[in-house]
Amino acid sequence: MVTCYTCGLNGIDSYLVDIEADITKALPQYDVVGLADTAIKESKERVRSSIKNSGFQFPARKITINLAPASVRKEGTHYDLPMAVALLGASIELGGLEEYVMLGELSLSGELRGVSGVLPMTDHAKKQGFSKIIVPMDNAKEAALVPGISVYPAGNLRQVIDFLTGQTSISSYQQEEELDFSAFDTTLDFADVKGQENAKRAIEVACSGGHSILMTGTPGSGKTMLSKRVPGILPPLTFEESMEVTKIYSVCGLVSKENPMLVKRPFRVLHHTASTVSIIGGGTKAMPGEISLAHNGVLFLDELPEFKREALEVLRQPLEDKRINVTRVSRSAEYPCNFMIIAAKNPCPCGYHGSQVKECSCTIDQIQRYQKKISGPLMDRIDIQIEVPAVNYDEISSIQPAESTLEIRKRVIKAREIQKKRYEGEGILTNAELTAPLVKKYCLLSPEAETLLKQAFQTLGLTARGYDKIIKVARTIADLEESQNIELHHLAEAISYRDTEHRMAD
Ligand SMILES: Nc1ncnc2c1ncn2[C@@H]1O[C@H](COP(=O)(O)OP(=O)(O)O)[C@@H](O)[C@H]1O
Ligand SMILES: [Mg+2]
Ligand SMILES: [Zn+2]
Repeated sequence: MVTCYTCGLNGIDSYLVDIEADITKALPQYDVVGLADTAIKESKERVRSSIKNSGFQFPARKITINLAPASVRKEGTHYDLPMAVALLGASIELGGLEEYVMLGELSLSGELRGVSGVLPMTDHAKKQGFSKIIVPMDNAKEAALVPGISVYPAGNLRQVIDFLTGQTSISSYQQEEELDFSAFDTTLDFADVKGQENAKRAIEVACSGGHSILMTGTPGSGKTMLSKRVPGILPPLTFEESMEVTKIYSVCGLVSKENPMLVKRPFRVLHHTASTVSIIGGGTKAMPGEISLAHNGVLFLDELPEFKREALEVLRQPLEDKRINVTRVSRSAEYPCNFMIIAAKNPCPCGYHGSQVKECSCTIDQIQRYQKKISGPLMDRIDIQIEVPAVNYDEISSIQPAESTLEIRKRVIKAREIQKKRYEGEGILTNAELTAPLVKKYCLLSPEAETLLKQAFQTLGLTARGYDKIIKVARTIADLEESQNIELHHLAEAISYRDTEHRMAD
């Protein structure tokens, strides 16, 4: 009996799989056991053809291939290579099989094809103590993102066997370029946005603390324009953040061969027709949804009231837990989904409620229904709300250059660094993630700020959640000023970002 090692995938988690090939002198038969799904049954045929077409003999014996542990469901095409190797290992002397994890899909002719999920599987192999992994050429760069494991890329089955018999050598793949996390998008610059100083400031605060933000304004006031410039001021990903989000993209088969690592924070535009499955994840393979593809980045919801109520409802739990359990008939998988929401909406169905330039043609009833559509639980999780009025002629015709993305970005990065340092060991990186006990621990208010908050609590009818939200945002505003304590003006600004429309509706 011959044993090879590979990995299985469950969400972005991975587990070790033993592939055992048992070949006995009996009537020719070829079975694969160990809870293999249909893809693995097909794999049986690819393994047979690729062995023959690589110039090897397919044993005319009774062959049993067992994938262990049998209790976990195995999916995917990457079992081809270890199955073929285990099978050939029965008749060819292969050295050091116990040192390798191997994975890859085989074509009928024996070529090795790239597969998805290589990053989480390689990471797991490393953690299990393996020092070598054999992967298809196309996955070499991705596997090499994991430090401390030698990556041997192969083009076909023949190469792998010749390598394992010692006939040829494969040099391990070395990542040459340093990963550059400092790159950012400059094609859309905040300098293009005239006026809107308040909105820009609120967006800066939101990005600095990881707070979700909702902008309300008349059509054409620049909400979409502002939102699309957010990626440029988002702080760089840390290596760990990038690894985690790249694993999600890897599982979806969304990483590029040449540049597998995500070096920019995701900015996912959620369309209002998106299905629940595409938002939270699912399908027969329990794949990640948009909220997980937005992990460590932004989920952008433009024209918020256009979204179906259910679509907004399903965002609640993930916003709270920052993880989502995707369950389907055959399996369930957990994915991280720690994202900030950037959302925009008009003030009413016609768009001109409260406008200085055009009269609103909606009835009070229509306006209330429109606002109610998005009230409640989702609003509870949005820390910052602002009005975005249309720019006036003087602003739009001004030749004064506005502040650039680069300048704003510098401040955001600085504020994030302060938070990262402060929350070392707490398991969070931003003010938005502060839990109630951590708010108490890290958000010290000056006596004047304390007095103002007390007043606001009484006169504005704040809820406990609203109270924490204000302090968290004030913490970020203080961090932008590198202020240790939260002072009166920090708190006053945070209060100005509170939810005014829905407070009463809840
Ligand atoms: N503050 C502004 N500065 C420069 N151009 C603006 C501004 N606001 C709006 N515009 C112009 O108007 C267009 C429409 O703005 P948009 O962002 O789509 O508005 P909204 O999403 O609020 O309806 C923009 O593409 C831009 O050309
Ligand atoms: Mg718009
Ligand atoms: Zn209206």
